[in-house]
Amino acid sequence: MKIAVINFSGNVGKTTVARHLLLPRIDGAELIAIESLNADEGQGQALRGRQFGELQEYLQTIDHAVVDIGASNVEELLGLMQRYRGSHEDFDGFVVPTVPALKQQQDTIATLVELARLGVPAAKIRLVFNMVDRGVDFKSTFFLVLGFLAERPLATVNLECRLGTNEIYARVRHQGIDLATLARDDTDYRALIVNAPHTTEKLALAQKLATRRLASGVVPELDACFAALGLGTGTAHHVVPLTRQAQ
Ligand SMILES: Nc1ncnc2c1ncn2[C@@H]1O[C@H](COP(=O)(O)OP(=O)(O)OP(=O)(O)O)[C@@H](O)[C@H]1O
Ligand SMILES: [Mg+2]
Repeated sequence: MKIAVINFSGNVGKTTVARHLLLPRIDGAELIAIESLNADEGQGQALRGRQFGELQEYLQTIDHAVVDIGASNVEELLGLMQRYRGSHEDFDGFVVPTVPALKQQQDTIATLVELARLGVPAAKIRLVFNMVDRGVDFKSTFFLVLGFLAERPLATVNLECRLGTNEIYARVRHQGIDLATLARDDTDYRALIVNAPHTTEKLALAQKLATRRLASGVVPELDACFAALGLGTGTAHHVVPLTRQAQ
């Protein structure tokens, strides 16, 4: 299964969704971050045809991938997909995270229109409603994007594909570890804290314990969101359900 995570907007959670929602639940999937393709050629440089060619070739050689497309490369990538007719078929699905801010909802709509223009069918495009706060009226929060889709159903919408705002994502941002793995860590931090001789050590361990607790709290939400995405349909054997209890 090969999934692209895409949105014209920055800061909607593309990298978060790729790393914490998709990658740990697609067995054997490799994370390909489009930003990293041109890391050796300086920051902020757009994806170029040659690199896109390489990406397409590379995708043919692997079975499972999650491709995280940084906002600065989305326009370029979609342009290249238009030029390399049919290249979107390399992907089994396009996951489009969106957040409540209106500008981001507008950009989400533009992303959906662009994917439709490329010929990507609605069945292959899934929205993830990110940073949805508990207690808010979901439908009125996302009225712009939901209203648009009611008129032009360019994507598959399941209101269960949602993630709440949680500080854990910022906590683990630079750790290079996904939340499901963190939640499975069975270190007895409380015993270690008791035996640690210095306060600084105790505090460091206490922080790890708190991070694991937050991770454990959010993993069921990620599992439910992933299940609601329905990406496994037809390829169920590639999908590994991940909950702490299931381990
Ligand atoms: N559900 C969430 N709750 C709390 N913080 C979140 C959530 N999702 C994402 N974030 C935070 O929001 C910021 C932006 O998220 P992320 O880096 O995943 O966005 P992005 O779409 O990949 O951005 P870019 O286009 O710049 O690559 C990060 O600091 C991340 O930790
Ligand atoms: Mg990103």
